[in-house]
Amino acid sequence: MKVLGIETSCDETGVAVFDTDAGLLGHCVHSQIDLHAAYGGVVPELASRDHIRRLPVLVKQTLAAASCELSQVDAVAYTAGPGLAGALLVGASYAESLGLALGVPVLPIHHLEGHLLSPLLAADPPAFPFVALLVSGGHTQLMQVTGVGEYALLGESLDDAAGEAFDKTAKLIGLGYPGGPQLAKLAEAGRGGRFRLPRPMLRSGDLDFSFSGLKTAVLNVVSGPDWRPEDTADLAADFQDAVVDVLCAKALKALEQTGLSRLVVAGGVGANHHLRERLNSAARHKGWRVYYPEPELCTDNGAMIAFAGARRLAAGQIATEGHAVRVYPRW
Ligand code: KG4
Ligand code: ZN
Repeated sequence: MKVLGIETSCDETGVAVFDTDAGLLGHCVHSQIDLHAAYGGVVPELASRDHIRRLPVLVKQTLAAASCELSQVDAVAYTAGPGLAGALLVGASYAESLGLALGVPVLPIHHLEGHLLSPLLAADPPAFPFVALLVSGGHTQLMQVTGVGEYALLGESLDDAAGEAFDKTAKLIGLGYPGGPQLAKLAEAGRGGRFRLPRPMLRSGDLDFSFSGLKTAVLNVVSGPDWRPEDTADLAADFQDAVVDVLCAKALKALEQTGLSRLVVAGGVGANHHLRERLNSAARHKGWRVYYPEPELCTDNGAMIAFAGARRLAAGQIATEGHAVRVYPRW
């Protein structure tokens, strides 16, 4: 069974074909970074318009790369939320129309479910059950995953997401958009330990997070009387350390609490090298294992949506009725 996946929740247009027998046949992503860079962040209206322009071209390109005819598509899966309403509507209307025209089922997929299952697309995938640490621009969550569609929330951020904290802090210290990866790169050149930044909720006793205070702590440093711009890399290193400390501690605590030994890390911040090093070494000591998506599938893409759609289809779950276009921006 071949599933066409469509992702348009934010500033990446992603399309993929996943075959339940042969695996991922092809996937293409178009990033809108250049389009939004001048504004220092994603402009929702521009994002929607660009998805409209790119989607048909990307679908053709992906089908060609996957050596798949449109008539061979057995189902269409798309991101129905959460995300930017206008951007989601582009993918949803395209997917539902295509499904109607082809006479095939259409599956609305939760964006985070896509991220959560994306490590299963790797060459050496984890078996269920596992703990998932979802760290994206919009969410920071710990989940206990027992199977497809069986997710129990263990904890989440009470304010900013980890990626959001990276992005906002990057802006604050004068880095361009997208800030997260740039801040991480700068941190590699810095020397940590000079600035005392808080580890919010490290000892809260639960598995929740809070990152907005960390951003404020950085603001206090850069607006203080002793601040020297040449110390920016050192501050970036200390900020990254603080975020990674909390993410690591809570993820390990979740494994301890659930008695599970497999941790899956997904979402954009999962690409962070420092986070990976810290998680890997901590897990090794305990005899646990950490799984990540392939690097190119860490950030938004259509492959994870096609895959989640295929798994849901295989489980007999088809949610749309009458090809109604529904999106859930705050799902
Ligand atoms: O999963 P994703 O592509 O989109 C959302 O669903 O949000 O995640 C994007 C987020 C952004 O906040 C970005 O700054 C962050 O992931 N990010 C990183 C790194 N690469 C991407 N944060 C820290 N270190 C990185 N290397
Ligand atoms: Zn995402």
